[in-house]
Amino acid sequence: MTLIGMPQIRERRTPTRTGRTYHLRTFGCQMNVHDSEGIAGLLEADGMVPATDADTADLVVFNTCCIRENADDKLYGSLGSLKRIKDERPELLIAVGGCLAQKDRNLVQDRAPWVDVVFGTHNLSRVVSLLDYAEEWGPITEILEESESVTVVPAKREVDHSAWVTIMIGCNNSCTFCIVPSVRGAEISRRPGDIVREVQDLAADGVVEVTLLGQNVNSYGRDLELGGHKALFADLLRRVGEVDGIERIRYTSPHPKDFKADVALAMAETEAVCEQLHMPLQSGSDRILSAMHRGYTAERFLAKLDLARQHLPGLAISTDIIVGFPGESEADFQATLDVVAVARFDSAFTFIYSPRPGTAAAEMVDQFVAPEVIQDRYQRLTELQTSIGLERNQELVGATVEVLVDGPSKTDPTKSSGRTRGNKLVHFPGEVAPGSLVNVRIDRAAPHFLIGDRL
Ligand code: SAH
Ligand code: SF4
Ligand code: F3S
Repeated sequence: MTLIGMPQIRERRTPTRTGRTYHLRTFGCQMNVHDSEGIAGLLEADGMVPATDADTADLVVFNTCCIRENADDKLYGSLGSLKRIKDERPELLIAVGGCLAQKDRNLVQDRAPWVDVVFGTHNLSRVVSLLDYAEEWGPITEILEESESVTVVPAKREVDHSAWVTIMIGCNNSCTFCIVPSVRGAEISRRPGDIVREVQDLAADGVVEVTLLGQNVNSYGRDLELGGHKALFADLLRRVGEVDGIERIRYTSPHPKDFKADVALAMAETEAVCEQLHMPLQSGSDRILSAMHRGYTAERFLAKLDLARQHLPGLAISTDIIVGFPGESEADFQATLDVVAVARFDSAFTFIYSPRPGTAAAEMVDQFVAPEVIQDRYQRLTELQTSIGLERNQELVGATVEVLVDGPSKTDPTKSSGRTRGNKLVHFPGEVAPGSLVNVRIDRAAPHFLIGDRL
C-alpha cells in the first residue's frame, strides 16, 4: 500500500515491542545522524532494544542518503543481501527512511519488494505506527511532500556529553549539483525559545557540547517574525551561549554567500562558541561557481575567510570541494588549487561530482568531465590539502590545547582521544572519563590528528 501525503494511521502509545531488537544503519550527513537518534528514541519508547548482532535483529532500519550515486548503490546492495535473511526469517521487519526514500518513493519497494516500511524525511516521527501497519496489513510506503514545522522527537543520544540540536530544516538554495532541497524541502526555522529550552534540558542532562544543525544556518530565522523583528543566527548563538553548563557550541553549515560580520562577531564574543568554522568552497573557479549557482566568487569567499579570521584568531576552517563539475577545465581546476593554497584550510571533504537526476547540473551531459581526468585532479587536490592540513597541525606543536575527551582511543585503549575547540582529533596517553575537559600539550602532528601529553 502507498500513502503519499496522507497521514492516516493513528499514533499508538503503550509499548508493544518490548524486548524485540533493532539494528539501525545511518548513511549521510549530521542531519541524518541526528534523525537516527530520533528513530532510535521512538523505537526504544516502543520497548525495543539495540541488537548486539545485526544478523539476528528483529528489525533493520536504514536511514538513507542520496547526495551521491554511490549512496544509492550501497543501499540497494545492502537490501539485496538482507533478502536472504528475510527469506529464512520472514518475521524480520525491514524499514527504509530518509533522503533516498524521499527521492525514490515507490521505487524502493519496486526494486526491493521485501522491504516492509518506506518513510521519508518529513514523517520519521511515524515510524512506529508504520511498523504496526506493516505487521498487520503488509508493506507500506508513506512519503509526505513537506513538513509543517520542525518536529523534534526525544532522541536517544549516541554520546552522553555532546548533542546535535536542529535549529532549522530544509534548504531554499538551488545549487545546481545538489539534491538536498528536493528531499528536505523548504527552510523552516525553529523558534529560538524552543531551541534554547532544548539546550537547557541537554545541559541539565550532562551535555557540555552542542552542535547546531541546519543546511544553511546563516538564513536561520528569516521565516520567523518575533515581536516585529527577525530572529537572526547571530542572536541565536549569543542566546545559546548563555546556557549554563554548555562549554562548547559548534554549528554546521553556514553558506559563504550569507556569512556576515554579525555572525563572526557573535562567535568571537560568545565564549562557548568554538574557534571552528565549516565553510564549503565547492570550487575556486568563478565560472564554475556561477554554473553551480553558489552566489559568490573566489575573491568574495577568501574575503569571508579573512573576516572570520580577523574576529577569531586561531580559527580552524574546514571545507567541502567538488571535483569534476560539468564543464570544469584544467584552468578551472587550477583555480581551485590556487584558492586552496591561499585559504589554508585545516581540513577538507573532497568529492567527485556525481550527477543527481532532477538537478540542473545533471542535464549538462555534454559537458561531463572524463572519469580519468577527474581521478587525476582528485588526487592532486587531496595531495595539496593533505600537506596543508599537516602544516596547519604542525603549527600547534608545542601549544597547550583544551581537549574534550570522547573516550579510549579506538586503536589503543591505554590512550584517550578527544577534540580540540578547533575540532581536531587528539590522542594522548592515559585514561580519562568521556566528557572531561583536559589540557594537552601537543608533541606531534599528522595530517588528520595530533598527539600530545596531558598536563
Ligand atoms: N548544506 C550543506 C551541504 C550539504 S551536502 C552546505 O551547503 O554546506 C554536503 C556536501 O556534499 C556539499 O557541500 C558538496 O560538496 C557535496 N555534494 C553535494 N552534492 C554533490 C554531488 N552531486 N556530487 C558531489 N558532491 C556533492
Ligand atoms: Fe545543497 Fe546548496 Fe542547499 Fe547546501 S546550500 S544543501 S549545497 S542546495
Ligand atoms: Fe544529508 Fe545525504 Fe540527506 S547529505 S540531507 S543525508 S541527501
